[in-house]
Amino acid sequence: MLYSNNNIAGVLAIMLIAAPTAYAIDNPDTPSEVNQRIGSGNPVIGKDKSALCQGCHGEDGNSVSGDFPKLSGQWSDYIQKQVREFQNGARYNEVMTDMAMSVDNFNDLFDIAAYFASQKQMGGTPIEDEAEQKLYLEGQKLFTQGNARTGAFRCIKCHGEYGKGQPLNNNLFPVIGGQHKAYLIKQLTDFKHEVRENDRSGMMLRITTHLTAHDIEAVATYLSRVPAPAPVAVPAPVAVPVAAPVPESWKILLEDKPVNIEGANFVGGSTKLKSKIVKTLDEVVGFVGQHPDAELELIGYADSSGSAKLNQKLSLARAASVKKYLVKKGVAASRITAKGEGSANPIADNKTREGRAKNRRVEIHSVIKEEKKVRVTG
Ligand code: HEC
Ligand code: HEC
Repeated sequence: MLYSNNNIAGVLAIMLIAAPTAYAIDNPDTPSEVNQRIGSGNPVIGKDKSALCQGCHGEDGNSVSGDFPKLSGQWSDYIQKQVREFQNGARYNEVMTDMAMSVDNFNDLFDIAAYFASQKQMGGTPIEDEAEQKLYLEGQKLFTQGNARTGAFRCIKCHGEYGKGQPLNNNLFPVIGGQHKAYLIKQLTDFKHEVRENDRSGMMLRITTHLTAHDIEAVATYLSRVPAPAPVAVPAPVAVPVAAPVPESWKILLEDKPVNIEGANFVGGSTKLKSKIVKTLDEVVGFVGQHPDAELELIGYADSSGSAKLNQKLSLARAASVKKYLVKKGVAASRITAKGEGSANPIADNKTREGRAKNRRVEIHSVIKEEKKVRVTG
C-alpha cells in the first residue's frame, strides 16, 4: 500500500511544513499546483538523492537532449510508476532499466520523484521554421479535436490543455506538453508498435493504432513547441534622427559614388555572398527605404582572368545575386537594375591577387532625382 501514495492529507500537511520551498525559485506554478504533483516524498532530500538521475534528465529535470525525457513538473506518481515498471520489466529501455535498478529503496523513489515534480513545469521551445509551423497547427487540431475520419481520439480529453495534465489531483495522465519532440515521437511510435505496453488499460496502444507517422510528428511538434513570440512591431523609419550616425554607405551613395561589394565578399569564384557583407547590404536597404525616389543600379565586374564571355556571365550573375538579396529584404525589384560589364573598368591591378579580388565586385549606384534628394546630416 505504501506505493499508492494518493496524498494522504496528514502526510501532505507534514510535508508542507517539513519540506519547504524547493520549488520557490523561478517557479511560476502556484504552491498548490506544485504540492498536488509532489505526492508524499520530500523534494528537498530528493534533490540530493537524484544526483545520478540529473546526469541525464537535467539538474532541474529539464534535460537538454531529446534522448532523455524531461521530468520537471511531471506528476510524482507517474515518475514512480515508470521507474517501478522499468524495474519489473513492464517497460524496458536499455539505458533506463539499469538506472531504475539502482533505486532499491522506495522512500528514495518517493523523494526523487517529489524533487522532479516540484520543479518548474517543462516548457516547449519556439517553432523553428515554416514547416514546423504547419505541423504545429495540424498537431494542435489533432490534439484538441481528434480525427473523425481516421478514428484518432482527441488527446486533450485525457492529457488536458496543451498536455499539461488534468486539474484536480488526477495523476493518471502524464504531463506531455513541453516535452522533447524526439522523445514524444519515440514514445508514440513505441506504443504504436507495442514496444512500450505499460499504459493502463492499453489506452495509448489503442490511441496510437489510429495515428500515422505523420500524425505522430505533427502532434509531437505541437506538444514540444510554443508559437514564436510575435515580432516586436518596429515602426517604419520615417526620418533619420539627427543624432543617429549616418551609415558610411549612405554618405557614399548621396555623393553619387558607388558602394563597392568587393570580390572578397563572394565565396570562391562564385556568386554566393559572404555573410560579412550583409551589414552593408542591409544599410542599402535602409537607404532605399529612406529615399522613395532612389533607384539602384547594380553593375557587376569580373577580373581579367577567364574568357570575356565567361566574365560577362559571371559579372552579371554577381550583380543578380546582390539584387536577389536586396529584393528578399523588401526592396521592390522594379527599383533595381542589374547588369554585368565583364572585366571592364578595373579599379586595381589585374596582375596581383589582391588587385584581382578588388576588380571582382558589384558596384551599387543610386540614382535619385536631384530635386527630391534628401539631405542627411551627420
Ligand atoms: C544514463 C542516462 C539516464 C540516467 C542516469 C537516468 N535515466 Fe531515466 N531515462 C533515460 C532514458 C534514455 C529514458 C527514456 C526511455 C525510453 O525511451 O523509453 C528515461 C526515462 C525515464 C523516465 C520515464 C519518463 C516518462 O516521461 O515516461 C523516468 C520517470 C526516469 N527516466 C527516471 C529516472 C530516474 C528517477 C533516474 C535516477 C535514478 C534516472 N531516470 C536516471 C536515461 C537515464
Ligand atoms: C484515454 C486517455 C488518453 C488519451 C485520449 C490519450 N492518452 Fe496519452 N497517455 C494516457 C495514459 C494513461 C498515459 C500513461 C501511460 C503510462 O502510465 O505509462 C499516456 C501516455 C502518453 C505519452 C507518454 C508520455 C511519457 O512521458 O512517456 C504520450 C507521449 C502520450 N500519452 C501522447 C498522447 C497523444 C499525442 C494523444 C492523442 C493522439 C494521447 N496521448 C491520447 C492516456 C491517454
